[in-house]
Amino acid sequence: MNKVDCQLASEIVIFGALGDLSRRKLLTALYQLEVCDLLHADSRIIGVARQKYSLGEFKAIVLENICTFIKEDGDKVALARFTARLVYQQLEMKNVIAYKYLASTLSQGNNTRVYYFSTPPAIYGDICNGLNHASLITAADRVVMEKPIGQCLASSKVINDQVARFFTENQIFRIDHYLGKETVLNLLVLRFANALFTTNWDRNSIDHVQITVAESVGIEGRGSFYDEIGQMRDMIQSHLLQILSLLAMEPPANLSAENIRAEKLKVIKALSPIDRTNVKDKTVRGQYCDGFVKGIEVLGYLHEEDVNINSETETFVAIKAEIDNWRWSGVPFYLRTGKRMTTKHSEIVVHFKAQPHNIFRRSYSELPANKLIIRLQPDEGVELQMMNKIPGIDPQMYIQENKLDLSFSDTYQNGRVIDAYERLLLEVLNGNQSLFVSRNEVEAAWAWVDSIVDAWKSTNESPKPYVAGSWGPTSSAALIARDDRQWIE
Ligand code: BG6
Repeated sequence: MNKVDCQLASEIVIFGALGDLSRRKLLTALYQLEVCDLLHADSRIIGVARQKYSLGEFKAIVLENICTFIKEDGDKVALARFTARLVYQQLEMKNVIAYKYLASTLSQGNNTRVYYFSTPPAIYGDICNGLNHASLITAADRVVMEKPIGQCLASSKVINDQVARFFTENQIFRIDHYLGKETVLNLLVLRFANALFTTNWDRNSIDHVQITVAESVGIEGRGSFYDEIGQMRDMIQSHLLQILSLLAMEPPANLSAENIRAEKLKVIKALSPIDRTNVKDKTVRGQYCDGFVKGIEVLGYLHEEDVNINSETETFVAIKAEIDNWRWSGVPFYLRTGKRMTTKHSEIVVHFKAQPHNIFRRSYSELPANKLIIRLQPDEGVELQMMNKIPGIDPQMYIQENKLDLSFSDTYQNGRVIDAYERLLLEVLNGNQSLFVSRNEVEAAWAWVDSIVDAWKSTNESPKPYVAGSWGPTSSAALIARDDRQWIE
């Protein structure tokens, strides 16, 4: 990562500092920025949570977490510098009066404050009220909001309105951590730095696109959250629609937040509606039952902790999405995501159109179309599948499908894969919003998703069961097979 211009010291205030996300990701990411010397010498990190802990206890928890979650040995000097920045503030976040204690903890200088909301979104408004009550908001401050913002368009508007009373849109950083992933960012480079793909990226050259985000994990102890939300609102509304919009957007004039976000928004708004009339043809929802993942027996969703035994929440979704615009008319984008699938595997497969005429028929009756495979994670890389002559003197021309494979780990041997949160936190400190989601995008995504969720409710059908450790319900294969295509697995 390049050294960046963090001229100003910051106070990074994490609400929900003892929560899962903060312990696993945020504090670890900040520590990694410390190791890379990317935090200003005078910046401080203020952990805010409900629990009564001394500073010493808080530091011990953070240290233990860092050692658990980073995969290499800790850097002792950086760890010492990092823990010296830590401050802990116990706070009842719904109690506006209590924010005076936070005010006395924060410095009164002109440091930029970054308020990171890593709490349930329902209390974002309370936090803003508290900060305002204690006069802790200035025009220079920034606020970072975790997804999902709301559970539908209406509740998301309420939360966005509550925050907008105190912060302007250019102070608000809505996180979708997929936008900080190396391979997701690389979509911009792949598309707009390579004429090969800039000119062949439309309905004339592309047959269809598959986007798969498969996870082998279940719901990881988040039963009460997940059972309310489900895979559609947890993954499709944010991560998959963001990937789709980066893949399908028009070239932005430059890399500014304004231009990139405007182009992504146009794609989300152009998604063809899925509603009660077509939901059965265009979507599949599933729920995992008992099975084996990588040889280990796992429980079905209904037996997970904090999940209603009669739950109808989906843990798998497949969708045939279509974009109603000039570039993409007639090109389906098949989206698929699920928990407890065969393996953790996220990739985009762009299927180009087949050759209109085959002059190699004698040796190869049906020429396969070229495929561009973008491996998002793990084993990050880009692969182009194409036809090649098998070397040999035989008068018959034998040909074969081969791949040009650009594996990131082989090509760029610079060690550790940077976690998305490291990049995104740095972007917040630098005030760059291009990797964050605008309010308009969030709302357009909710509008599209709400219509599908509403249509599912109207059908009164339960999610289709699938065995944990599989690629989802059989109806997912049927969804794409109806178009004479199949998932790449
Ligand atoms: C989160 C979802 O946003 O992304 C989780 O809430 C999901 O349910 C996670 O497991 C996946 O992220 P990653 O980076 O592991 O692909």
